[in-house]
Amino acid sequence: MTGPGEIQAQVEAAAAALRTRIETRLGGETPAVAIAMGSGLGGLGAEIEDPVRAPYEELPGWPRPTVIGHAGHALIGTLGGRPVLGLSGRVHLYEGGAPGRVAFYVRVAAVLGIPNLFLSNAAGAIRAGWHPGELMLVSDHLNLTGTSPLIGPVVGAENRFPDLTFAYDRDLRTIVRGSAAELGQTLHEGVYAAMHGPAFETPAEIRMLRTLGADAVGMSTVPEVITARALGIRCVAVSCLTNYAAGVLDEPLNHEEVLETTKLAQAGFQRLVAESISKFRYGLFDVP
Ligand code: HPA
Repeated sequence: MTGPGEIQAQVEAAAAALRTRIETRLGGETPAVAIAMGSGLGGLGAEIEDPVRAPYEELPGWPRPTVIGHAGHALIGTLGGRPVLGLSGRVHLYEGGAPGRVAFYVRVAAVLGIPNLFLSNAAGAIRAGWHPGELMLVSDHLNLTGTSPLIGPVVGAENRFPDLTFAYDRDLRTIVRGSAAELGQTLHEGVYAAMHGPAFETPAEIRMLRTLGADAVGMSTVPEVITARALGIRCVAVSCLTNYAAGVLDEPLNHEEVLETTKLAQAGFQRLVAESISKFRYGLFDVP
């Protein structure tokens, strides 16, 4: 088992490898936001201007994604006029290993002093009247993965018992909501239920999630948000609704459908992220 000192040493080594690229591209300026691009949403990387690319294999200790639709590199550049660190491809709990692996990049962002995290994901629509291709701003989550990325000894500067009352930052959400309104986009807002996966849910599980108050369901994001909050990073997350959740329609789901729908939703999603980020400020305690 990897001990907390060893994990932190790997995180710091990966941060050092990125720091040299940040110096090259941004002259040492700290990215205002790290952007985690979800399944099929890596196209946002093409919007990052003059990026310096760091394949994950060049970053010490960095977990490498194994899923189709997840490329696997970091991009340093600007988006909406702001310095950003883009992360194309992430690992999921269902890929195995320690739960904390999925949030490795969040720890790196913390060491680099990046104050904001913008997450995106593909999710199934549970709420009646919400449709594939539409976007949902995450207002809160249900962690139904049965695990936590913080299990084990305290690593680095993390808070042992992070508060999740405002896990999805209210000021950042206001910015994203305002940006969607300016762009004339439909943006739902609701609760994201995180499942461990990799199997999609059964119709009975979707009925259970609806009863529990979930509006959308996916297999990512929540471990990263928990880790980010333990490290004082502000979070905002947008789900791309890629399919009706299991049992909403009388037909099966598949991963190809998820990728197809993200392709269709990608352009609107990219505009929303770029517009929102142009309004982000740097400091953790600045009012954006
Ligand atoms: N369930 C879980 N994860 C998902 C789904 C879903 O329906 N769609 C995209 N990711």
